[in-house]
Amino acid sequence: MRATSDTVAALKARLERAEREAAGHQRQLERYAADLRESYRRERARSQQLRRSYKATVRALSNAVEARDAYTGMHAERVAAYGLAIARAAGIDVADEPQLEFGFLLHDIGKVGVSDAILFKPAELSPDEFRHVAKHAEIGSKILRHVDFLEEATLIVRHHHERWDGTGYPDGLEGEQIPLAARVFAVADTLDALTTDRPYRDAVGWEQARAEIRRGSGTQFDPAVIAAYDTLGDDTFARLREGVRSSSAPSR
Ligand SMILES: [Fe+2]
Repeated sequence: MRATSDTVAALKARLERAEREAAGHQRQLERYAADLRESYRRERARSQQLRRSYKATVRALSNAVEARDAYTGMHAERVAAYGLAIARAAGIDVADEPQLEFGFLLHDIGKVGVSDAILFKPAELSPDEFRHVAKHAEIGSKILRHVDFLEEATLIVRHHHERWDGTGYPDGLEGEQIPLAARVFAVADTLDALTTDRPYRDAVGWEQARAEIRRGSGTQFDPAVIAAYDTLGDDTFARLREGVRSSSAPSR
């Protein structure tokens, strides 16, 4: 009898020890989980901060290019807004591709290598002058080529004047050889060029711009990108333009 109660007491003691150990392990696991949650939160905040810094740097560069070219004021911001909307409509996961916006904003950075006399000439360019201006796509891609975080954006900068039919520049790429983001950009760029006053011509309305852009489907533009653009109403682009204007309003 005595032996049995000793065994029960020993088993009970072992059980209690095992329970204490299990509770200790559970507390430790909870601490690990809390540490992990905290590291994840900090890492996320850091990467968001990094992304904001990248964006601010890209904006600063883009503003530096635009400051020289007064008449296009906010062109890069508008093109980026239109381009992101068309990219989304074309099925590109814009949130996952921050370089898209960077490439749109920086597309004309190579114009820093084009002389004022030619860039701002109020008349038609001679073939030689056109060749000089056309170099901006290549110059831009060279300016950015060593910036790791702009690798994809650099492709947009280099190929933003390629045409679907292969007659564009600098590389004469054709069809799907042209990076999709650059094909999207081409439509956004033309939309803004047509709907903005320039020294050599007045702006046209959204509807007329759409008709002109559609005429370029299959020659200048990728028909699939035009189809994506056509899923968006003119009111979408009008709203985006208004958004860019109000975000740039000077504070008093
Ligand atoms: Fe350009």
